[in-house]
Amino acid sequence: MTIQKPDPIVIFDTTLRDGEQSPGASMTLDEKVQIANLLDEMGVDVIEAGFPIASDGDFEAVSEIARQVKNSVVAGLARAIPADIARAAEAVRHARRPRIHTFVSTSPIHLTHQMKKTEDQVIDIIEATVAQARGLVDDVEWSAMDATRTPIAYLKRCVEVAIRCGATTINLPDTVGYATPSEYRAMFEAMRDVPGADGVIFSTHTHDDLGLAVANSLAGIEGGARQVECTINGLGERAGNAALEEIVMAIKTRGDALPYSTRIETTHLTRASKLVSMASGFQVQYNKAIVGANAFAHESGIHQDGMLKHAETYEIMRPEDVGVHATSLVMGKHSGRHAFRQKLEEMGLELGDNALQDAFRRFKELADRKKHVYDEDILALVEDQFTEEHERARVMSLTVIAGTGGPQKAILVMDVDGKHITAEATGSGPVDAVFNAVKKILPHEAKLALYQVHAVTAGTDAQAEVSVRLSQDGRIESGRSADVDTLVASAKAYVAAVNKMMARRGQHAQALHATL
Ligand code: KIV
Ligand code: ZN
Repeated sequence: MTIQKPDPIVIFDTTLRDGEQSPGASMTLDEKVQIANLLDEMGVDVIEAGFPIASDGDFEAVSEIARQVKNSVVAGLARAIPADIARAAEAVRHARRPRIHTFVSTSPIHLTHQMKKTEDQVIDIIEATVAQARGLVDDVEWSAMDATRTPIAYLKRCVEVAIRCGATTINLPDTVGYATPSEYRAMFEAMRDVPGADGVIFSTHTHDDLGLAVANSLAGIEGGARQVECTINGLGERAGNAALEEIVMAIKTRGDALPYSTRIETTHLTRASKLVSMASGFQVQYNKAIVGANAFAHESGIHQDGMLKHAETYEIMRPEDVGVHATSLVMGKHSGRHAFRQKLEEMGLELGDNALQDAFRRFKELADRKKHVYDEDILALVEDQFTEEHERARVMSLTVIAGTGGPQKAILVMDVDGKHITAEATGSGPVDAVFNAVKKILPHEAKLALYQVHAVTAGTDAQAEVSVRLSQDGRIESGRSADVDTLVASAKAYVAAVNKMMARRGQHAQALHATL
């Protein structure tokens, strides 16, 4: 009897490209590089690092990731435009394994209303742009945007041309999240007789508008796709993309029904989820599969009883397999530097000497204010430190006068480009007063689109984690921070969002507070 080996699936992560396209999810260069290095370490096969023609920042991020990543293929996205393709090639040129990913719409609705091109004109575009890309790198992915709303006969014609002109991966996206699993599977099955199909890898790329992204990806695999495009936490345009952690764990857990394999080291999934959530400012919902805070929590008496008797009664995956460790009491104010360093290592956090020194100082301050310091507290503290290190404006101190009788008043001291500035402001409520004080130091027109608070751990002394989203001229920026004092966390989160807004606009803080 021969035992069949599970078919390997190429995991293509697009958190840094499609994920970053979610309104408000923009990330800094350092955050992107940190995420890319973790994806590489985790065993992601292809990292789509960005859209190099979109901005100088995107170009720089793709180039830096291409330089740093050790094993993964690094892909840059390009429209079917010669200048885009040349720019993508330049951005990935330092990668050990560079890929150009070029795409064009194929559906009648896109051709008629958006591109104003005929089917034959699009065929010519595919011919020219795929050939151009293939002249620049050996690894070329071609995508048929809105493939799932494209008539099969025309889609096959496009795919045939892309293969003939040198594409090595053919991606058939469900761009608008419209397909059902059986339709998506059938589309891949229909591609099997396209000339050259057996020499390329077909890929899924699904969006979650109807909540079907992961189901569609798995159906695509059953239909013959061997690459899956996905994102950490399902981040992505509109309702998001298929979640990497869900696809990988479905394959790992249900090998009996899904005879496939991936190279992903699943114990890094929780860490990756936290890192992406921190960098994007998008909180992970509590009941999110695999990485949500409640994914392995058992509340009802019957479930708890079963769990105590035998974990498999109510658990289909082991929490440790996705990197979840029982919340542990770490250390208190008497813990030393050595123990702290060891704890960070256990949590997979690597800090340089200066960063470690700073983190230890922050830990001691926290331990003075909070009785029990948990893993989650340490993670929040390191995340905050990482964000602040890259910011030009920082909160130094905050005093708030609140309570009945208002108006509430905030006195805020900030460091802006090395200069200490103090502002006082009132508001309807303490949070409003704090935000008004920030506005006095960093004047801006952005509107508050979201203000959210949640506790990092249980207890009245828990750190509050605050998320803020600001919107201006159709752009959204988010900031996040944690502190035992909700108002301090609010001020820091708001300032983090303003910092991102300033960085994006390339404005100089000096110019901003010169107007005071
Ligand atoms: O959803 C989509 O079609 C895309 C393409 C650019 C691959 O993101
Ligand atoms: Zn997409």
